[in-house]
Amino acid sequence: MSNNLIDNLKLELNRVNSENDLMNLKSNYLGKKGEITKLAANIKNLSVEEKKEVGSKLNSLKKEAESLISEKFKSIKNEIINKKLESEKIDITLPQRESNLGSIHPITQILDEVLDIFEGYGFQIVEGPEIENDYYNFEALNIPQDHPARDMQDTFYLEDEKVLRTHTSPMQVRIMENNEPPIKIISPGKVYRCDSDVTHTPMFHQVEGLLVNNDISFSNLKSILSSFCSDFFGSNIKTRFRPSYFPFTEPSAELDIEWVNKSGEKKWMEVLGCGIVNPKVFEFAKYDLNEVSGFAFGMGIERLAMIKLGITDIRYFYQNDLKFLKQF
Ligand code: PHE
Repeated sequence: MSNNLIDNLKLELNRVNSENDLMNLKSNYLGKKGEITKLAANIKNLSVEEKKEVGSKLNSLKKEAESLISEKFKSIKNEIINKKLESEKIDITLPQRESNLGSIHPITQILDEVLDIFEGYGFQIVEGPEIENDYYNFEALNIPQDHPARDMQDTFYLEDEKVLRTHTSPMQVRIMENNEPPIKIISPGKVYRCDSDVTHTPMFHQVEGLLVNNDISFSNLKSILSSFCSDFFGSNIKTRFRPSYFPFTEPSAELDIEWVNKSGEKKWMEVLGCGIVNPKVFEFAKYDLNEVSGFAFGMGIERLAMIKLGITDIRYFYQNDLKFLKQF
């Protein structure tokens, strides 16, 4: 009888594979109405002699059943843990994801470099509005209505006599209106012109420079800008000042630098406009013309960046192509 029972138990244990089923099985054998418990209940009808014998057999039967069941518990638990370990396995040999650390935009890098150099010369940085009054962008810079120079700059016009500033020169007047000489400022920022090709984008950056004192001459201007070019491009850089025209400076010039293009040809490239501040502009600023003199310049940051970084199409800067931007 007892061997039979253990064999059955073993068979049933083999089929069980969840903790729940095992609990049920356990109660079928060892619970209140379980097989083994029922056998034990019959003992009371036996003689003393038989009680002893059957009692001890039942005891060992019970122990064996208990140990078989508790072993099965262990093995089910182990299996659960193993499955979990298997499914939550981390493959530490997988290569990590590429990290996408941001970087400073090349235009910002070049702009910072330019500002650093001029700060080193003692210029103070000031900033002005991108939406500008017609007055500051044109009028006070000696570019009246109907002046042909207005056509030089493809202006984006806004409502109420406002424009997107076409250059940073309006800052010359804004600064002089509110400050007495000496003045020594640079003003960086975005400017806008309705123009787009390999060397023009509708938005680009300029840095304006203005130095006003008594006795400022063109040689002061040449000296500062030449130092800037050798500090920015290296001391081997060749520069040339070429006569030009701006309504707000007189005389006016453009500064070209020599660079070598991809095919090895030497080329002159215009990088900035400059000149001696036109007395007309001092009049708008209400300065005493007998007391003051000064120079101004305005440079295009994208131009400087193209030359320094060897980029042939200005539009690359604004296509947000990470492959391009990551090179800097
Ligand atoms: N504002 C001029 C331009 O945008 C540059 C310039 C600035 C020229 C200051 C002379 C003096 O082309």
